[in-house]
Amino acid sequence: MAIVYQAETKTFFLDGAGVTYAFCINEAGYAEHLYWGTAIPHDDLRYTCARWQLWQITPPGQDETATYQSYAPELAFFGTGDYREPAVLPVNEAGDRLCELLYASHEILPAKPAMAGMPSMEGGETLVLHLLDSITGFAADLYYTVYDDCGVIARRVVYRNTGNTPVILRRAYSFSMEVPGQDYEVLTLYGNWAAERRIQRTPVHHGVVAVDSKLGMSSNVLNPFLAVVETGADELSGEAFGFSLVYSSSFVLKAQGTSFGNALVTGGIQDFDFSWTLDAGEELETPEIVMAYSDEGIGGMSRAFHRAFREHLINKRYVKASRPIVINNWEATYFDFDLPKLKAFVDTAQGTGIDTFVLDDGWFGKRDDDTSGLGDWVVNGQKLEGGLTPLIDYVHSKGMKFGLWFEPEMVNEDSDLFRAHPDYAIGVPGRQRCYGRHQYVLDLTRQEVRDCIVESVNAILHTHAIDYVKWDFNRPVAEFYSLGREAGRQAEFAHRFALGLYDLCRRIVEGNPDIIFEGCSGGGARFDPAMLAYFSQIWTSDDSDAEERTRIQYGTSLVYPLSAMSCHVSVCPNHQTGRTTPFATRGHIASLGATGYELDPTRLSVEELEQVRQQTAAYRETEALVLEGDLYRLDDPFTGNYFSFLTVSPDKTQAKLTAYRRLVEPLQEVKRIRLAGLAPDKTYTIPALGIRATGATLMRVGLIPVFGEGDFQSVQYMITAE
Ligand code: GLA
Repeated sequence: MAIVYQAETKTFFLDGAGVTYAFCINEAGYAEHLYWGTAIPHDDLRYTCARWQLWQITPPGQDETATYQSYAPELAFFGTGDYREPAVLPVNEAGDRLCELLYASHEILPAKPAMAGMPSMEGGETLVLHLLDSITGFAADLYYTVYDDCGVIARRVVYRNTGNTPVILRRAYSFSMEVPGQDYEVLTLYGNWAAERRIQRTPVHHGVVAVDSKLGMSSNVLNPFLAVVETGADELSGEAFGFSLVYSSSFVLKAQGTSFGNALVTGGIQDFDFSWTLDAGEELETPEIVMAYSDEGIGGMSRAFHRAFREHLINKRYVKASRPIVINNWEATYFDFDLPKLKAFVDTAQGTGIDTFVLDDGWFGKRDDDTSGLGDWVVNGQKLEGGLTPLIDYVHSKGMKFGLWFEPEMVNEDSDLFRAHPDYAIGVPGRQRCYGRHQYVLDLTRQEVRDCIVESVNAILHTHAIDYVKWDFNRPVAEFYSLGREAGRQAEFAHRFALGLYDLCRRIVEGNPDIIFEGCSGGGARFDPAMLAYFSQIWTSDDSDAEERTRIQYGTSLVYPLSAMSCHVSVCPNHQTGRTTPFATRGHIASLGATGYELDPTRLSVEELEQVRQQTAAYRETEALVLEGDLYRLDDPFTGNYFSFLTVSPDKTQAKLTAYRRLVEPLQEVKRIRLAGLAPDKTYTIPALGIRATGATLMRVGLIPVFGEGDFQSVQYMITAE
């Protein structure tokens, strides 16, 4: 039994792999958090409950020693004396915003019920805690799922109106969680186009540290992730509490240093520009938060997320399957291509180990640049005479697979779709719409708009032998307004947009199970766990410069497994930075994910084509390490001149080190890399360096990588147990 209710102490113990989570129902009927950390026995933990009553508010009808503010909350509410960040704010019929959510009952379910409208982790024993405001009938069902194969806990809330009158939710977060003490830093991922997921560390302080999105997408500005880590925690040591929201629209996550000396974490759906009406009998499902605990530093937290997402979130059919090695024509041709040109790419790629040709933007409608054509998913006969089939047949005849780009959620003003249905594009009547890359976002909150998208995308997918789809989303929402909704419900838009997107994904992605889907969003601007539930891999960034990629992939790996990141070798000088890096380095960095090439293969030299052969062969040989290995980040390119990733097989018999030196320095120290994650008593060989040593030695003493001459050099070493 992973979930136990101890009746005499009214305590719930949730045991996952290596972790325990505990809370009790206290004397006030309040769900009071007790512990989350390394697995412990089921002792009575209520002695940790702090009781402060100096100058605090006493909730109605309770003993004057009681005050909600001093209880560590499972779900904090407002209006009865708790002034920390509340998780929920309902507006009742009288206009008051009170709710006192206290214990009503609970259930322990052998398996987690799927969510109706949103993606979430699968499986696992689940506790449903029913909290109720007995005056209004406003209720919150808190779901907790634990897993015996990974140290994460998945939580979410379903808010229910069991009363007789409507309730307007002005805030509806997914959880509250308090960690003891305040000696922590908040770790978050920020960025921009071509600079996704940079790491930021901010001390927890009295007040709130928040990350959020108001873009209608999870965005590259801030990722829906936040961790609270012990001050000074590094990759291998220190406690880390990570929170990753399974959500793709506007969100918020907050860490608050409370006046009682603890750190409260909370968040979920963005509540700026949000309100949601629950009529009598209605409910609102909130997105799931995946919480990963580690006492082995930030690296341990990442490995817990990676394992959880691989085992319980990403499509089982593809997650551990050998991935396509693609050649994508975007940077090679942009919009300028025709059938002979593409056939030449395929001819050259054949036999190099590249096994999938992906035709990017520009194959449909009147699409010669980015000002027109989006929305018209019909083949552009001028570029592709005879349609897509001759090209697809050609690719297949060469033993390769065929992939195709779509941007289903968008429309250009210059398109047949917009001419027929201008109202499908998001906008406010009487106002000119905002442009982004010359395009508008379609109103996914409307059923007829979604039906139209599904019909036109599926018309292509159902009539062609397509093996792979790249699904792009190149601009955020601006106006957050739908013609299909009454004035009082317009602030439901951002969340309804997410629900519309998930509906599209169910009908197009899950409706075409033989196609592997790659996510994309002007690079990696919608890289979140909800998208990963549909897209087994996501284009990590439009910045394909190997040097930039070391930071982008390092930051992304804080939460997401390597197999989730699409990483391509592109030409030099690089199109985003103008930088020139060695072909071998580009190959090494791109091998740390779902790999591929984004260049004109007909322009590669004989030597470079030979390198492609070697890179793809080496990739296939150790692909399991990308798909299933444990990741150890050994050198941080944000803080030093080096980047190194070690991937270790789960049984610790195989490992691969990828190390990179940014700049050569004339009086350079001898760089030593201490390995990690090996079995101390196993003997390993590293043929490239002539080393034979135990895991203990390699982890304590380390090894010295031998870089070539010049800047941007890298090495890859196989490490094999005897
Ligand atoms: C986005 C993607 C690119 C490419 C272009 C096509 O920018 O990130 O990879 O597909 O769109 O327009």
